Amino acid sequence: MNGFTLKLRAVLAALVICLGAATLDVSTAVAQSAQPAAPAAAHEEVLFRYLQTQGSGNLVGRVSIPDHKAATLIQPGGREFQETWRGPMKWIAAVAIIGMIVLVGIFYAVKGPIRTTSGYAGRLIKRFRGIDVFAHWLTAVSFVVLAITGLNITFGRYLLLPLIGAEAFTSWSEAAKVAHNFMGFPFTLGVLLMFVLFLKDNIFDKTDLRWFAQGGGMIGHAHPPARKFNGGQKIVYWATVFGGGALAVTGFILMFPFQIVTSIDGMQLALQLHGIIAFLMIALIIGHIYLGSIGMEGAFRAMWSGKVDLNWAKEHHPLWVEEIMNPTRKDSSLPAGAKGAGAD
Ligand code: HEM
Repeated sequence: MNGFTLKLRAVLAALVICLGAATLDVSTAVAQSAQPAAPAAAHEEVLFRYLQTQGSGNLVGRVSIPDHKAATLIQPGGREFQETWRGPMKWIAAVAIIGMIVLVGIFYAVKGPIRTTSGYAGRLIKRFRGIDVFAHWLTAVSFVVLAITGLNITFGRYLLLPLIGAEAFTSWSEAAKVAHNFMGFPFTLGVLLMFVLFLKDNIFDKTDLRWFAQGGGMIGHAHPPARKFNGGQKIVYWATVFGGGALAVTGFILMFPFQIVTSIDGMQLALQLHGIIAFLMIALIIGHIYLGSIGMEGAFRAMWSGKVDLNWAKEHHPLWVEEIMNPTRKDSSLPAGAKGAGAD
């Protein structure tokens, strides 16, 4: 028997204690006599090197409980996955989220809030029904909680832990993890509701091509005509449907490990997709929140009371105003002015 096998035996003995009911079957790797243990990190190194030379590379024992996955004590591939994945993930998050914050900041500094240049008419028209407003805020509030708690899961230990200390970070992270799991349900319901309620007005058409060709009016002061939603808003809608839908599906896969997807590769893919889509969605929604609040005068009221000022609507969504004022003239390209229906 050599020193190498003796060290292995010591590590494996410690693992047996951790597993409780599991019984190990690693006879090829372990010799029979007991020896004093070397420092844990050194053991781990040796063990991993040994495992790399063995079949799947995993250290698998035997369990008498129904969940046979519990027999996998060490899966070096998982650690490798975490290490290779963490780097790119940080970059995707940093570029997307910080990039969007910087962009919004520059836009605000250079252009300021988008104003209703003709001034308010003082006459309100109905833009959203109560159910639309409810679906939007259900999605919005749950998304913001999910975003903050999700970012904590990924980056909290690097950014927050040094600031607030271990005790506070532990309590906060425990609550954040529970909130992250539970908020997945209202978010999914919100996305489904928004998909159904807003679908009719979010089909792309030739008006959107014109809107995109003019950069959405972001550069200069022109207001390219739009129906109820402009091209940029339709992108937000479809990102909410597909991105939000993908976040929900991958989130449930992660919440119920090995129940919906049964392979380790599948679980790892779900984790990667969940992370990447979440970071891209967070970046997009930062831009959306900006334009829906301080970035555009009069926009927030639409999603708060469901009503908007007539002049705001004419400047930003003239074709929609035309449609609700003259329901029979769907294909008009210029607003005809306000006449009765839809206004109050
Ligand atoms: C939390 C802060 C948020 C604010 C202040 C906000 C604000 C707004 C406003 C004012 C509108 C109506 C725009 C209009 O009348 O044309 C709107 C629409 C919408 N919001 Fe939000 N929103 C927020 C969060 C979210 C989130 C988290 C999502 C999705 C994950 C979302 C998805 C949408 C969609 C799909 C629409 C309809 C299409 C559009 O206007 O882009 N919103 N939002």
